Amino acid sequence: MKPVLDGTVALVTGASSGIGAATAAVLADHGAAVALAARRRDRLDTLAAGIRDQGGTALVLESDITDEQQATDAVARTVAELGRLDTLINNAGVMLLGPAVSAPLREWQQMVELNVLGLLYCAHAALPHLLRAAEDSPRRVADMVNISSVAGRVARNGSGVYNLTKHGVGAFSESLRQEVTRRYVRVSLVEPGATATELAGHNRPEVLDSMRNQFGQRMQAEEIADAIIYIVTRPRHVAVNEMLIRPTEQER
Ligand SMILES: NC(=O)c1ccc[n+]([C@@H]2O[C@H](COP(=O)([O-])OP(=O)(O)OC[C@H]3O[C@@H](n4cnc5c(N)ncnc54)[C@H](OP(=O)(O)O)[C@@H]3O)[C@@H](O)[C@H]2O)c1
Repeated sequence: MKPVLDGTVALVTGASSGIGAATAAVLADHGAAVALAARRRDRLDTLAAGIRDQGGTALVLESDITDEQQATDAVARTVAELGRLDTLINNAGVMLLGPAVSAPLREWQQMVELNVLGLLYCAHAALPHLLRAAEDSPRRVADMVNISSVAGRVARNGSGVYNLTKHGVGAFSESLRQEVTRRYVRVSLVEPGATATELAGHNRPEVLDSMRNQFGQRMQAEEIADAIIYIVTRPRHVAVNEMLIRPTEQER
């Protein structure tokens, strides 16, 4: 049987580690040509080499998507070099926690610049291509999957700005879903709980110390990739709007 995403092209932001890298690999396994966007080129090169070894197609896009031009270029190069865009996985994100009082403002700016603006730049640039793919591709459907978080559902003491960005991703996704769903661009929201990736490691040491007790059981990035693949391989008339996935032992 032909892989279900044969002939489609997917762009994954934040593909150099964690959920993005796992998702890109599984999309390629399912037959999609994948464009890999992130800042660490060496990581992307290694992932791309692995995908090509398996007979897949991968395009490396060294991009900082907080820069509007680089985000727009990432989408444009995907279409120019791989021919189209059927699937956008808006995954790149940063989570910098700790009390709001005396928090370094730069951390708040980083989260808004990447989790909100970076995602919006990619979404804006990708939409015309996704709409076209939904019209002319053999599957006649296209997907934008936005990666939010449990933190996009519930706000907690010590994660206010991360909560703000992820709640924003949820609101934007639902609004956009209503706008484009009749044109067969499916906009989906994935909200993972604790997942073993590099995400927490970018926090200040004192924040990391206080976080250690908070997180118990964790999921693997591949388990979130599995959910994303489920979403983008549904038949044309089935849209999975939202998926909230926690480790079984995670209560909140
Ligand atoms: N892990 C969890 O527990 C968890 C839970 C809920 C939601 N999430 C969400 O899942 C998504 C993926 O995170 P992860 O857990 O897989 O963490 P991760 O391993 O830290 O991955 C983050 C990715 O974002 C990329 N990135 C960071 N800044 C970027 C920039 N300016 N431009 C382009 N790419 C950039 C990183 O690549 P470079 O550094 O190479 O640029 C990396 O590939 C995030 O949106 C996160 O909020 C994660």
